[in-house]
Amino acid sequence: MKHTRGSREAWAQLLRVCAPLLISALGAGCIVHHPAAAPAATSATSGAGASSSQVAPLREAATAAHRRVGTALMSARLDDQRVRTLVAANFDSLTPENEMKWETIEPRPGQFVFAPGDKLVAFAAANNIRMRGHTLVWHSQLAPWVKGLSPDELHAAMVRHVRGVVGHYKGKVSAWDVVNEAYADGPSGQLRSDSPFNVLGPTYIDEAFKLAHEADPDAQLFYNDYEIEGEGSAKGDGVFALCKRLKEAGVPISGVGLQMHVDPRHWPPVDSIRRNMERFAGLGLLIEITEMDVPVGEIPGTIDEKLAQQRTIAHDIVAACVAVDKCAAVTFWGLIDRDSWLETAQWGKLRGRLPHYPLLFNNAYQPKPIVLGVMDALAGH
Ligand code: XIL
Repeated sequence: MKHTRGSREAWAQLLRVCAPLLISALGAGCIVHHPAAAPAATSATSGAGASSSQVAPLREAATAAHRRVGTALMSARLDDQRVRTLVAANFDSLTPENEMKWETIEPRPGQFVFAPGDKLVAFAAANNIRMRGHTLVWHSQLAPWVKGLSPDELHAAMVRHVRGVVGHYKGKVSAWDVVNEAYADGPSGQLRSDSPFNVLGPTYIDEAFKLAHEADPDAQLFYNDYEIEGEGSAKGDGVFALCKRLKEAGVPISGVGLQMHVDPRHWPPVDSIRRNMERFAGLGLLIEITEMDVPVGEIPGTIDEKLAQQRTIAHDIVAACVAVDKCAAVTFWGLIDRDSWLETAQWGKLRGRLPHYPLLFNNAYQPKPIVLGVMDALAGH
């Protein structure tokens, strides 16, 4: 305990000293030593478990709040020791950013490519980190061969895919985004029209959950989507109706994933997000924030002001999760700003002007002010 408290103090000191520097010079780095980024973490290189002296306050703060805190990574990032050290110290949940998507894991019919996902799973196991699997049935990043199948062939492909992937990771991946982004944007509140799985009828969703449950009865199974975070949207109401129907039909769904790709230009008030979490909790479902990022490219003001605002937004959203017992985890969609999908030209324009600085750590692997916001929320402040 003594050592842990020392780590917390070191971390707090780091943030006090570094935060102003970071605000004025993102990416310039900070020379203050702190345990999370210490290069002496040989266990991170060897793959052995992190020692208690490496357990830094973010993970610790989440545990104290009975929540998990996660990040998403591409497997190649594990070749960088700074990544391994920072992740092992700060997170207890890990999501593969692309490695378990259909196009990667089953690029040809029945031929599974598990190595990139296995690499993340091995790292997680060595560091006592829970794995979230992402994702089994999704219209996007689907292997091209799936799109040309007849309904019968598509059904057989879905059965083989879910059994093959969940079966391979049985006991190693303890939560799955079984179905991702099945609902349409806009006012319809219906399933999206551009999913090839629609030809199987709307109960393809039920079946995917049942198949996943058969393949690993101990895994938690989630429906995951974006822009369903607050109350009062047709899409969110559609997903709520789906979850209610699945629960009533006895389909083995454990929870709902709110992606939480925040768009500060038009985003539901935090009270609305909390009440929305509560209505899903009322169905007996867990809630996880699964892909949070807070892009600040379109927030007016100086970089200091943008990052201060980012800290406030993240604080308030994490506080909403802390306020709802069944909100079990918050995962950020990447580690350092440069890694974020939103810092690419392709995706960044969804949120206006680059750069967005959307994540917890800057490009020098140092915590940004947003980390203070998250930690305050976890501590109940
Ligand atoms: C993104 C990845 O971060 C990118 O690397 C990839 O090019 C596109 O997909 N919703 C999801 C995630 O469920 O899988 C997406 O991840 C981001 C939006």
